[in-house]
Amino acid sequence: MAMGSASCISLVVLVALATAASGQLSSTFYDTSCPRALATIKSGVAAAVSSDPRMGASLLRLHFHDCFVQGCDASVLLSGMEQNAGPNVGSLRGFGVIDNIKTQLESICKQTVSCADILTVAARDSVVALGGPSWTVPLGRRDSTTASASLANSDLPGPSSSRSQLEAAFLKKNLNTVDMVALSGAHTIGKAQCSNFRTRIYGGDANINTAFATSLKANCPQSGGNTNLGEPRTRRRPTRSTTPTTPTSCHRKGSCTRTRCSSTTTPPTTLSATLRPTRAFSSAFTTAMIKMGNIAPLTGTQGQIRLSCSKVNS
Ligand code: HEM
Repeated sequence: MAMGSASCISLVVLVALATAASGQLSSTFYDTSCPRALATIKSGVAAAVSSDPRMGASLLRLHFHDCFVQGCDASVLLSGMEQNAGPNVGSLRGFGVIDNIKTQLESICKQTVSCADILTVAARDSVVALGGPSWTVPLGRRDSTTASASLANSDLPGPSSSRSQLEAAFLKKNLNTVDMVALSGAHTIGKAQCSNFRTRIYGGDANINTAFATSLKANCPQSGGNTNLGEPRTRRRPTRSTTPTTPTSCHRKGSCTRTRCSSTTTPPTTLSATLRPTRAFSSAFTTAMIKMGNIAPLTGTQGQIRLSCSKVNS
């Protein structure tokens, strides 16, 4: 059906507004209003990662789970709500680290730096702290006044999603298959719960390296034992993912179906020789991280700058 001129114009206006929203982000956003913002976030993340290296992985995932639900607006940080959704409950970590950084920032620049920006920068600084690539983060996001557990349940992909379901979930956020595969390289760090990969290591999936599956069984019994969190984290940084065009063919060392949550038990010394991030991976990963960080930001006078990341201003 042909589009009427009025709806055609409103479509143009809508597209222009959407483009303007992410166009308003700027890497120099806090240069005058809070010049120490980035250094404060960096040192907060460095301290947290040095006392608990897995925290780098957890902060990276927190940013992903924020951006896929209502956009990168810190909705995931609001107590309750999204935090109770299936993909998040009993699994997300790092809220206290963000709260501590926010407290420090409030003491130097009152109500200036958004929780959404803190989380975006903390994800970048986490990757860097673990030896991965760096990138410049566009800034100026504002914080939501709402969160949605139902959107978290519908928009976050699950560990048993098929390839086409995963691609659709990413496409919905304007991320293509190359972005999806590059971002899945995040699973070279961090841990997963036994329940998320048990079926795969006990014969449910032929597409897994046998020795790797055996090594995971030590921490993941055939029944129960879900409190044992995954395999030891051995890689210190997002390194590489599979060839962008073939996301399902991989080193067969991903513990989760298709998505390769956590990866290997190979000693780090070997990894530093064999799994240094390739230039192609670093480039695809950083491009995709910036795209993910630009999903539907609140800017200008939208939303608010929260005083505390876990609750809306009263
Ligand atoms: C492709 C779709 C994805 C699926 C289905 C998926 C699923 C999962 C699951 C099931 C876990 C384990 C959670 C647990 O057992 O508690 C996990 C962990 C993790 N995911 Fe993903 N994920 C996806 C994409 C991503 C993306 C895009 C990123 C970041 C760019 C990411 C970063 C991580 C990290 C770092 C961990 C480990 C967290 C920790 O140790 O605390 N994931 N993911």
